[in-house]
Amino acid sequence: MSIEIPEGLTELLQSFTVEVLRNQPRDLLEFALQYFTQLKESETKGAAFDNDQNSASRSGKAVNFIEEAMQIDSENGEEEEDDDEEFVAPVINRFTRRASVCAEAFNPDDEDEDKEPRITHPKTDEQRQRLQEACKDILLFKNLDQEQMSQVLDAMFEKIVEAGEHIIDQDDDGDNFYVIERGKFDIVVRTEGVERSVGSYDNRGSFGELALMYNTPRAATIIAISPGALWCMDRLTFRRIIVKNNAKKRRMYEAFIETLPLLTSLEVSERMKVVDVISSKIYSSGERIIAQGDMADCFYIVESGRVRITMRRSRTKKDTEEGEMDIATCSRGQYFGELALVTNKPRAASAYAMENVKCLVMDVKAFERLLGPCMDIMKRNIANYEEQLVTLFGSNTDIQNVDQSA
Ligand code: CMP
Ligand code: CMP
Repeated sequence: MSIEIPEGLTELLQSFTVEVLRNQPRDLLEFALQYFTQLKESETKGAAFDNDQNSASRSGKAVNFIEEAMQIDSENGEEEEDDDEEFVAPVINRFTRRASVCAEAFNPDDEDEDKEPRITHPKTDEQRQRLQEACKDILLFKNLDQEQMSQVLDAMFEKIVEAGEHIIDQDDDGDNFYVIERGKFDIVVRTEGVERSVGSYDNRGSFGELALMYNTPRAATIIAISPGALWCMDRLTFRRIIVKNNAKKRRMYEAFIETLPLLTSLEVSERMKVVDVISSKIYSSGERIIAQGDMADCFYIVESGRVRITMRRSRTKKDTEEGEMDIATCSRGQYFGELALVTNKPRAASAYAMENVKCLVMDVKAFERLLGPCMDIMKRNIANYEEQLVTLFGSNTDIQNVDQSA
Protein backbone atom coordinates (compact mmCIF):
# COMPACT_ATOMS: atom_id res chain seq x y z
CA MET A 1 0.00 0.00 0.00
CA SER A 2 1.40 3.35 -0.89
CA ILE A 3 0.73 6.46 1.13
CA GLU A 4 0.57 9.74 -0.71
CA ILE A 5 1.93 12.74 1.16
CA PRO A 6 -0.32 15.72 0.37
CA GLU A 7 1.39 18.58 -1.41
CA GLY A 8 2.61 21.21 1.02
CA LEU A 9 2.41 19.02 4.14
CA THR A 10 6.17 18.72 4.60
CA GLU A 11 6.75 22.45 4.21
CA LEU A 12 3.84 23.30 6.50
CA LEU A 13 5.09 21.03 9.27
CA GLN A 14 8.67 22.14 8.82
CA SER A 15 7.82 25.80 9.14
CA PHE A 16 5.66 25.12 12.17
CA THR A 17 8.47 23.11 13.77
CA VAL A 18 10.93 25.90 13.13
CA GLU A 19 8.66 28.41 14.81
CA VAL A 20 8.21 26.12 17.80
CA LEU A 21 11.97 25.80 18.13
CA ARG A 22 12.40 29.54 17.81
CA ASN A 23 9.74 30.42 20.36
CA GLN A 24 9.91 27.47 22.75
CA PRO A 25 6.22 27.93 23.74
CA ARG A 26 5.15 26.61 27.10
CA ASP A 27 1.81 25.50 25.73
CA LEU A 28 2.44 23.75 22.47
CA LEU A 29 -1.20 23.14 21.66
CA GLU A 30 -2.13 26.77 22.25
CA PHE A 31 0.80 27.88 20.11
CA ALA A 32 -0.24 25.51 17.33
CA LEU A 33 -3.80 26.80 17.48
CA GLN A 34 -2.68 30.42 17.14
CA TYR A 35 -0.08 29.61 14.52
CA PHE A 36 -2.43 27.83 12.18
CA THR A 37 -5.32 30.23 12.79
CA GLN A 38 -3.15 33.16 11.85
CA LEU A 39 -1.64 31.33 8.94
CA LYS A 40 -5.14 30.75 7.63
CA GLU A 41 -6.08 34.39 8.21
CA SER A 42 -3.04 35.69 6.37
CA GLU A 43 -3.72 33.29 3.55
CA THR A 44 -7.25 34.59 3.22
CA LYS A 45 -6.03 38.19 3.31
CA GLY A 46 -3.30 37.32 0.86
CA ALA A 47 -5.72 35.76 -1.58
CA ALA A 48 -7.81 38.91 -1.59
CA PHE A 49 -4.65 40.96 -2.01
CA ASP A 50 -3.24 39.34 -5.10
CA ASN A 51 -4.11 36.06 -6.67
CA ASP A 52 -0.87 35.50 -8.49
CA GLN A 53 1.49 36.48 -5.77
CA ASN A 54 -0.05 34.22 -3.20
CA SER A 55 -0.21 31.03 -5.13
CA ALA A 56 2.59 29.73 -2.93
CA SER A 57 0.79 30.25 0.33
CA ARG A 58 -2.49 28.98 -1.10
CA SER A 59 -0.95 25.70 -2.01
CA GLY A 60 0.22 25.35 1.57
CA LYS A 61 3.80 25.94 0.47
CA ALA A 62 5.13 27.88 3.40
CA VAL A 63 8.42 28.07 1.55
CA ASN A 64 9.15 31.56 2.72
CA PHE A 65 8.89 30.58 6.33
CA ILE A 66 11.36 27.84 5.75
CA GLU A 67 13.69 30.16 3.98
CA GLU A 68 13.43 32.64 6.80
CA ALA A 69 14.17 29.81 9.15
CA MET A 70 17.31 28.98 7.22
CA GLN A 71 18.20 32.52 8.01
CA ILE A 72 17.03 32.30 11.61
CA ASP A 73 19.86 33.69 11.69
CA SER A 74 19.16 36.46 9.51
CA GLU A 75 16.74 38.11 11.84
CA ASN A 76 18.13 41.09 13.61
CA GLY A 77 18.10 41.49 17.34
CA GLU A 78 15.33 44.04 17.42
CA GLU A 79 13.06 41.75 15.56
CA GLU A 80 13.67 38.93 17.94
CA GLU A 81 12.85 41.24 20.79
CA ASP A 82 9.63 42.18 19.03
CA ASP A 83 8.84 38.53 18.76
CA ASP A 84 9.22 38.08 22.47
CA GLU A 85 6.93 40.92 23.37
CA GLU A 86 3.65 39.16 22.83
CA PHE A 87 2.55 35.68 22.19
CA VAL A 88 1.73 35.98 18.55
CA ALA A 89 3.17 33.41 16.24
CA PRO A 90 5.98 35.67 15.02
CA VAL A 91 6.24 34.26 11.58
CA ILE A 92 2.78 35.56 10.96
CA ASN A 93 3.82 39.01 12.14
CA ARG A 94 6.53 39.05 9.56
CA PHE A 95 4.24 37.59 6.98
CA THR A 96 1.58 40.22 7.44
CA ARG A 97 4.00 43.10 7.67
CA ARG A 98 5.85 42.06 4.58
CA ALA A 99 3.11 40.47 2.51
CA SER A 100 4.54 41.72 -0.77
CA VAL A 101 7.93 40.33 0.01
CA CYS A 102 7.04 37.06 1.65
CA ALA A 103 4.63 36.17 -1.10
CA GLU A 104 7.71 35.45 -3.17
CA ALA A 105 8.53 31.78 -2.95
CA PHE A 106 12.21 31.22 -3.17
CA ASN A 107 14.45 28.39 -2.21
CA PRO A 108 18.12 29.15 -2.72
CA ASP A 109 18.80 25.52 -3.52
CA ASP A 110 16.04 25.18 -6.07
CA GLU A 111 17.57 24.54 -9.47
CA ASP A 112 14.27 25.54 -11.13
CA GLU A 113 15.05 29.09 -10.19
CA ASP A 114 17.67 29.03 -12.91
CA LYS A 115 14.92 28.55 -15.47
CA GLU A 116 13.20 31.81 -14.56
CA PRO A 117 13.27 34.43 -17.29
CA ARG A 118 16.38 36.57 -17.03
CA ILE A 119 16.06 40.30 -16.71
CA THR A 120 18.17 42.24 -19.19
CA HIS A 121 18.56 45.98 -19.48
CA PRO A 122 20.35 46.71 -22.75
CA LYS A 123 23.46 48.90 -22.39
CA THR A 124 25.86 50.71 -24.64
CA ASP A 125 29.51 49.60 -24.56
CA GLU A 126 30.33 52.77 -22.68
CA GLN A 127 27.67 52.08 -20.06
CA ARG A 128 28.77 48.49 -19.65
CA GLN A 129 32.34 49.61 -19.14
CA ARG A 130 31.32 52.10 -16.46
CA LEU A 131 29.20 49.44 -14.81
CA GLN A 132 32.06 46.93 -14.80
CA GLU A 133 34.35 49.51 -13.27
CA ALA A 134 31.81 50.30 -10.51
CA CYS A 135 31.31 46.59 -9.75
CA LYS A 136 34.91 45.48 -9.73
CA ASP A 137 35.45 45.87 -6.00
CA ILE A 138 32.00 44.85 -4.80
CA LEU A 139 32.65 41.97 -2.40
CA LEU A 140 29.20 40.44 -2.82
CA PHE A 141 30.07 39.85 -6.47
CA LYS A 142 33.52 38.45 -5.85
CA ASN A 143 32.54 34.80 -5.52
CA LEU A 144 30.32 34.75 -8.60
CA ASP A 145 31.36 32.71 -11.59
CA GLN A 146 31.59 34.27 -15.05
CA GLU A 147 28.09 33.31 -16.11
CA GLN A 148 26.54 34.65 -12.89
CA MET A 149 28.52 37.87 -13.19
CA SER A 150 27.39 38.36 -16.73
CA GLN A 151 23.75 37.87 -15.66
CA VAL A 152 24.31 40.43 -12.91
CA LEU A 153 25.69 42.98 -15.37
CA ASP A 154 22.84 42.35 -17.82
CA ALA A 155 20.23 42.88 -15.13
CA MET A 156 21.58 46.13 -13.73
CA PHE A 157 20.15 49.46 -14.74
CA GLU A 158 21.36 53.00 -14.27
CA LYS A 159 19.78 55.59 -11.97
CA ILE A 160 20.86 59.20 -11.89
CA VAL A 161 20.24 60.85 -8.53
CA GLU A 162 20.00 64.42 -7.25
CA ALA A 163 21.40 65.78 -4.02
CA GLY A 164 18.84 65.34 -1.26
CA GLU A 165 17.14 62.36 -2.89
CA HIS A 166 16.22 59.46 -0.58
CA ILE A 167 17.37 56.31 -2.34
CA ILE A 168 16.16 54.07 0.48
CA ASP A 169 13.91 54.82 3.42
CA GLN A 170 14.28 52.86 6.62
CA ASP A 171 11.48 50.31 7.20
CA ASP A 172 10.40 50.19 3.56
CA ASP A 173 10.35 46.87 1.72
CA GLY A 174 13.47 46.14 -0.29
CA ASP A 175 13.23 46.69 -4.03
CA ASN A 176 16.76 47.02 -5.40
CA PHE A 177 20.38 46.53 -4.49
CA TYR A 178 22.57 49.52 -5.39
CA VAL A 179 26.17 49.89 -6.55
CA ILE A 180 27.62 53.38 -6.46
CA GLU A 181 29.22 54.69 -9.62
CA ARG A 182 29.65 58.22 -8.32
CA GLY A 183 28.27 60.48 -5.62
CA LYS A 184 28.21 60.78 -1.87
CA PHE A 185 25.51 59.22 0.28
CA ASP A 186 24.65 59.52 3.95
CA ILE A 187 23.57 56.50 6.00
CA VAL A 188 20.98 57.47 8.59
CA VAL A 189 19.57 55.09 11.19
CA ARG A 190 16.54 55.88 13.32
CA THR A 191 16.44 54.21 16.72
CA GLU A 192 13.60 54.91 19.14
CA GLY A 193 12.53 57.86 17.03
CA VAL A 194 15.95 59.48 17.00
CA GLU A 195 17.77 59.72 13.66
CA ARG A 196 21.52 59.75 13.49
CA SER A 197 24.05 59.51 10.73
CA VAL A 198 26.07 56.32 11.13
CA GLY A 199 28.38 56.75 8.18
CA SER A 200 28.57 57.63 4.52
CA TYR A 201 29.64 56.35 1.12
CA ASP A 202 32.07 58.39 -0.90
CA ASN A 203 32.01 57.55 -4.62
CA ARG A 204 32.33 53.81 -4.05
CA GLY A 205 30.66 50.82 -2.45
CA SER A 206 27.20 49.36 -2.45
CA PHE A 207 24.13 49.26 -0.23
CA GLY A 208 20.64 47.83 0.06
CA GLU A 209 21.62 44.18 0.35
CA LEU A 210 20.26 43.51 3.84
CA ALA A 211 16.53 43.74 3.14
CA LEU A 212 16.95 41.54 0.08
CA MET A 213 19.12 38.94 1.77
CA TYR A 214 17.10 38.56 4.94
CA ASN A 215 13.56 39.54 3.92
CA THR A 216 13.60 42.33 6.48
CA PRO A 217 12.54 45.97 6.21
CA ARG A 218 15.22 48.44 5.17
CA ALA A 219 17.61 48.90 8.10
CA ALA A 220 18.69 52.46 7.26
CA THR A 221 17.83 55.50 5.17
CA ILE A 222 20.26 56.32 2.38
CA ILE A 223 20.28 59.94 1.18
CA ALA A 224 22.27 61.35 -1.73
CA ILE A 225 24.28 64.33 -0.50
CA SER A 226 25.62 65.16 -3.96
CA PRO A 227 24.44 64.48 -7.50
CA GLY A 228 25.38 60.93 -8.38
CA ALA A 229 24.85 57.78 -10.41
CA LEU A 230 23.87 54.33 -9.17
CA TRP A 231 23.56 50.93 -10.76
CA CYS A 232 20.53 49.04 -9.48
CA MET A 233 19.75 45.35 -9.41
CA ASP A 234 16.15 44.23 -8.93
CA ARG A 235 15.25 42.10 -5.95
CA LEU A 236 14.49 38.93 -7.92
CA THR A 237 17.82 38.86 -9.72
CA PHE A 238 19.60 39.62 -6.46
CA ARG A 239 17.89 36.75 -4.71
CA ARG A 240 18.28 34.35 -7.60
CA ILE A 241 22.00 34.93 -7.91
CA ILE A 242 23.45 36.47 -4.76
CA VAL A 243 21.28 34.79 -2.13
CA LYS A 244 21.70 31.45 -3.85
CA ASN A 245 25.42 31.96 -3.91
CA ASN A 246 25.36 32.85 -0.23
CA ALA A 247 23.61 29.58 0.61
CA LYS A 248 26.57 27.81 -0.99
CA LYS A 249 28.97 30.05 0.90
CA ARG A 250 27.31 29.20 4.20
CA ARG A 251 27.85 25.53 3.55
CA MET A 252 31.49 26.17 2.64
CA TYR A 253 32.48 28.46 5.49
CA GLU A 254 30.15 27.64 8.37
CA ALA A 255 32.54 25.18 10.00
CA PHE A 256 35.59 27.41 9.59
CA ILE A 257 33.83 30.51 10.90
CA GLU A 258 32.71 28.56 13.99
CA THR A 259 36.35 27.91 14.90
CA LEU A 260 37.49 31.54 14.84
CA PRO A 261 38.38 32.81 18.32
CA LEU A 262 37.76 36.41 17.19
CA LEU A 263 34.10 35.69 16.56
CA THR A 264 33.31 33.85 19.79
CA SER A 265 31.36 36.80 21.17
CA LEU A 266 28.94 36.68 18.23
CA GLU A 267 25.68 34.76 18.25
CA VAL A 268 25.41 31.93 15.72
CA SER A 269 23.06 34.06 13.64
CA GLU A 270 25.56 36.91 13.64
CA ARG A 271 28.33 34.56 12.56
CA MET A 272 26.18 33.48 9.63
CA LYS A 273 25.77 37.13 8.67
CA VAL A 274 29.54 37.35 8.61
CA VAL A 275 29.62 34.45 6.18
CA ASP A 276 27.08 36.22 3.98
CA VAL A 277 29.23 39.30 3.51
CA ILE A 278 32.68 37.79 3.19
CA SER A 279 34.31 36.96 -0.04
CA SER A 280 37.42 34.89 -0.52
CA LYS A 281 40.50 36.19 -2.26
CA ILE A 282 43.60 34.34 -3.38
CA TYR A 283 47.11 35.84 -3.30
CA SER A 284 50.17 34.28 -4.82
CA SER A 285 53.43 33.86 -2.97
CA GLY A 286 55.14 37.23 -2.41
CA GLU A 287 52.10 39.29 -3.40
CA ARG A 288 51.41 42.39 -1.32
CA ILE A 289 47.98 42.27 0.30
CA ILE A 290 48.19 45.52 2.26
CA ALA A 291 50.56 48.44 1.75
CA GLN A 292 51.56 50.47 4.78
CA GLY A 293 50.25 54.02 4.50
CA ASP A 294 47.34 53.12 2.18
CA MET A 295 43.79 54.02 3.09
CA ALA A 296 41.90 50.99 4.34
CA ASP A 297 38.63 49.53 3.16
CA CYS A 298 38.89 45.84 4.04
CA PHE A 299 39.51 43.43 6.84
CA TYR A 300 41.13 40.01 6.33
CA ILE A 301 40.96 36.55 7.95
CA VAL A 302 43.51 33.97 6.81
CA GLU A 303 41.89 30.83 5.50
CA SER A 304 45.06 29.11 4.29
CA GLY A 305 48.74 29.90 3.92
CA ARG A 306 50.75 32.41 5.94
CA VAL A 307 50.91 36.18 5.79
CA ARG A 308 53.95 38.23 6.77
CA ILE A 309 53.32 41.58 8.44
CA THR A 310 56.14 44.05 7.94
CA MET A 311 56.70 47.59 9.07
CA ARG A 312 58.77 50.44 7.69
CA ARG A 313 59.89 53.13 10.06
CA SER A 314 61.72 55.32 7.59
CA ARG A 315 59.84 57.62 5.26
CA THR A 316 62.57 57.45 2.63
CA LYS A 317 62.23 53.88 1.44
CA LYS A 318 58.55 53.98 0.83
CA ASP A 319 58.09 51.98 -2.31
CA THR A 320 60.51 49.17 -1.66
CA GLU A 321 60.49 46.30 0.74
CA GLU A 322 63.95 47.48 1.79
CA GLY A 323 63.92 48.83 5.31
CA GLU A 324 60.82 46.85 6.19
CA MET A 325 61.01 44.74 9.33
CA ASP A 326 59.06 41.59 9.89
CA ILE A 327 56.81 42.12 12.86
CA ALA A 328 54.35 39.23 12.78
CA THR A 329 53.07 36.22 10.89
CA CYS A 330 49.39 35.37 10.53
CA SER A 331 48.23 31.87 9.71
CA ARG A 332 44.90 30.04 9.36
CA GLY A 333 42.22 31.51 11.59
CA GLN A 334 44.13 34.70 12.37
CA TYR A 335 43.15 38.13 11.12
CA PHE A 336 44.84 41.35 10.09
CA GLY A 337 43.89 44.71 8.66
CA GLU A 338 41.57 45.65 11.51
CA LEU A 339 43.75 48.38 13.01
CA ALA A 340 43.22 51.01 10.33
CA LEU A 341 39.46 50.36 10.40
CA VAL A 342 39.31 50.68 14.17
CA THR A 343 41.53 53.77 14.38
CA ASN A 344 40.39 55.37 11.12
CA LYS A 345 44.03 55.83 10.14
CA PRO A 346 46.09 54.61 7.17
CA ARG A 347 47.47 51.07 7.25
CA ALA A 348 50.08 50.79 10.03
CA ALA A 349 51.98 47.93 8.38
CA SER A 350 52.23 46.00 5.14
CA ALA A 351 51.09 42.41 4.60
CA TYR A 352 52.59 39.94 2.12
CA ALA A 353 51.61 36.41 1.14
CA MET A 354 54.44 34.09 2.23
CA GLU A 355 53.11 31.33 -0.01
CA ASN A 356 49.85 30.95 -1.88
CA VAL A 357 47.36 32.45 0.51
CA LYS A 358 43.58 32.45 0.70
CA CYS A 359 41.91 35.13 2.79
CA LEU A 360 38.34 35.89 3.70
CA VAL A 361 37.75 39.57 3.08
CA MET A 362 35.10 41.80 4.60
CA ASP A 363 34.48 45.40 3.60
CA VAL A 364 34.64 48.23 6.08
CA LYS A 365 30.88 48.81 6.29
CA ALA A 366 30.18 45.16 7.11
CA PHE A 367 33.09 45.22 9.57
CA GLU A 368 31.57 48.19 11.38
CA ARG A 369 28.08 46.75 11.32
CA LEU A 370 28.88 43.18 12.31
CA LEU A 371 32.05 43.11 14.34
CA GLY A 372 31.20 45.61 17.06
CA PRO A 373 30.81 42.79 19.61
CA CYS A 374 34.34 41.54 18.76
CA MET A 375 35.91 44.91 19.46
CA ASP A 376 37.15 43.94 22.94
CA ILE A 377 39.24 41.09 21.55
CA MET A 378 40.59 43.32 18.79
CA LYS A 379 41.48 46.10 21.18
CA ARG A 380 43.31 43.67 23.44
CA ASN A 381 45.37 42.55 20.44
CA ILE A 382 46.01 46.12 19.39
CA ALA A 383 47.46 46.72 22.85
CA ASN A 384 49.81 43.80 22.16
CA TYR A 385 50.97 45.45 18.93
CA GLU A 386 52.43 48.27 20.97
CA GLU A 387 54.44 45.81 23.07
CA GLN A 388 55.60 44.05 19.90
CA LEU A 389 56.83 47.33 18.50
CA VAL A 390 58.65 48.26 21.67
CA THR A 391 60.43 44.89 21.54
CA LEU A 392 61.35 45.42 17.91
CA PHE A 393 62.02 49.11 17.68
CA GLY A 394 62.81 50.02 21.29
CA SER A 395 60.91 52.15 23.77
CA ASN A 396 59.04 55.35 22.91
CA THR A 397 57.36 53.54 20.06
CA ASP A 398 53.69 53.56 19.55
CA ILE A 399 51.55 52.77 16.58
CA GLN A 400 50.86 56.43 15.99
CA ASN A 401 54.58 57.07 15.42
CA VAL A 402 55.26 54.60 12.65
CA ASP A 403 55.33 55.91 9.13
CA GLN A 404 51.70 55.82 7.95
CA SER A 405 52.11 58.39 5.23
CA ALA A 406 50.36 57.38 2.05
P1 CMP B 1 19.09 47.58 3.61
O1 CMP B 1 18.64 47.34 4.98
O2 CMP B 1 18.53 46.75 2.52
O3 CMP B 1 18.84 49.12 3.26
C1 CMP B 1 19.61 50.10 3.95
C2 CMP B 1 21.06 49.78 3.73
O4 CMP B 1 22.00 50.62 4.37
C3 CMP B 1 21.41 48.41 4.29
O5 CMP B 1 20.72 47.44 3.55
C4 CMP B 1 22.91 48.41 4.20
O6 CMP B 1 23.32 48.09 2.90
C5 CMP B 1 23.23 49.90 4.41
N1 CMP B 1 23.89 50.16 5.70
C6 CMP B 1 25.11 50.73 5.84
N2 CMP B 1 25.43 50.88 7.13
C7 CMP B 1 24.39 50.40 7.84
C8 CMP B 1 24.14 50.28 9.23
N3 CMP B 1 25.02 50.70 10.15
N4 CMP B 1 22.97 49.73 9.62
C9 CMP B 1 22.09 49.32 8.70
N5 CMP B 1 22.26 49.43 7.37
C10 CMP B 1 23.40 49.94 6.93
P1 CMP C 1 46.15 47.71 9.56
O1 CMP C 1 46.91 48.85 10.12
O2 CMP C 1 44.78 47.93 9.10
O3 CMP C 1 47.01 47.03 8.39
C1 CMP C 1 48.23 46.38 8.74
C2 CMP C 1 47.93 45.32 9.78
O4 CMP C 1 49.03 44.64 10.32
C3 CMP C 1 47.32 45.97 11.02
O5 CMP C 1 46.09 46.53 10.68
C4 CMP C 1 47.31 44.81 11.96
O6 CMP C 1 46.21 43.97 11.70
C5 CMP C 1 48.56 44.03 11.54
N1 CMP C 1 49.61 44.08 12.59
C6 CMP C 1 50.19 43.01 13.14
N2 CMP C 1 51.09 43.37 14.06
C7 CMP C 1 51.10 44.70 14.10
C8 CMP C 1 51.80 45.67 14.87
N3 CMP C 1 52.71 45.32 15.77
N4 CMP C 1 51.52 46.95 14.66
C9 CMP C 1 50.61 47.33 13.75
N5 CMP C 1 49.92 46.46 12.98
C10 CMP C 1 50.14 45.16 13.16
